[in-house]
Amino acid sequence: MSEKPIILGIETSCDETAVSLIQDKQNGTPKILSNIISSQFDIHKEFGGVVPELAARSHVEKIDLIAKKAISDSGIELNKVSAIAATYGPGLIVCLSVGLSFGKGLASTLGIPFIGINHLEGHALSPKLQDKIDYPYLLLLISGGHSQYLSVNGLGDYKRLGTTIDDALGEAFDKTAKLLGIDFPGGPKIEEFAKKGNPEKYDLPKPIINKGGCNLSFAGLKTAILRIVKNIKSDQEKFDLAASFQKTIEEILFTKTKVALDEFKKLNSTNKGSFVVAGGVAANKGIRKKLIEVSMQHNFKPIFPDLHLCGDNAAMIAMVGLEKFKNKQFDNLDLPADPRLPLDANAKFLKGAGVEL
Ligand code: KG4
Ligand code: ZN
Repeated sequence: MSEKPIILGIETSCDETAVSLIQDKQNGTPKILSNIISSQFDIHKEFGGVVPELAARSHVEKIDLIAKKAISDSGIELNKVSAIAATYGPGLIVCLSVGLSFGKGLASTLGIPFIGINHLEGHALSPKLQDKIDYPYLLLLISGGHSQYLSVNGLGDYKRLGTTIDDALGEAFDKTAKLLGIDFPGGPKIEEFAKKGNPEKYDLPKPIINKGGCNLSFAGLKTAILRIVKNIKSDQEKFDLAASFQKTIEEILFTKTKVALDEFKKLNSTNKGSFVVAGGVAANKGIRKKLIEVSMQHNFKPIFPDLHLCGDNAAMIAMVGLEKFKNKQFDNLDLPADPRLPLDANAKFLKGAGVEL
């Protein structure tokens, strides 16, 4: 075994088949030796969302190839790998099972430890691949499946401060895009459309903006957009609607982040710290700008992982694997996939009609 641990990470929780090798460094951030991501956009685009069976089938078809490429790109002999880390939840169970079984098989064959990883913990620790960052920090995770504010207090120690009570933010972008006739995943295209439109044209709702702490809600926006879309006749009106949507989201996140930063400060008795924004939607430049602004106003250092580490990837899974490896937190090979695995097990379930905020 190499002196500095090398972790092979595997991610198949949704529609990305990803494998990465990273190596610890004595000082500073770990080295990413390889980071291979194969997306399934083409498979799902005609359906307007991820189709679980098709996603799982594609993972099965690709996982060997992606793993081989990650290993050969890393320049590392397989017998130098210290442990295998694979996502075991949350996500689509048929998809999780592919990477999980592959990881367990590899660990067993090589006779090295196996470590099950919470996908959300991967996003939470992803900035550690680039920056030395001290606990605790505030995390905003905005992806296709999740929208949460979390106080990241240490490895395995998370307190959820707020969550969406209905749609995830990426889902809101994708649904809006679908209504405008844009293929899945439409988030990036909405941002492009928005640049050509008038953000003041449509007045869209900002659900629970002044209540519910830093919990979020986006479902009302979709309903409003559905009504407007029916009367849209020109491309310009589509651009205007995208611009109005983008502006509304920026305003919601600005206000809610202020609340989250205040809650974080109270909880950790501090007046400064780091604010990390991760997940696919963190790629949105308008949102980034607004979040940097609110963060600086509150004396917090804004941190955005690089774009290739914002969306789903296996380097972030290996990152958590590395931290767990150093603590000798290994798992047995009978660890089951858990599609609803939470980050903060004590957080209240806040979804569905009539939820108390
Ligand atoms: O984190 P991610 O890659 O996968 C999940 O775990 O969900 O996030 C994907 C989501 C999709 O909903 C996609 O539309 C959205 O991130 N997204 C964006 C942008 N780039 C990706 N949303 C808004 N603006 C973007 N530039
Ligand atoms: Zn994700």
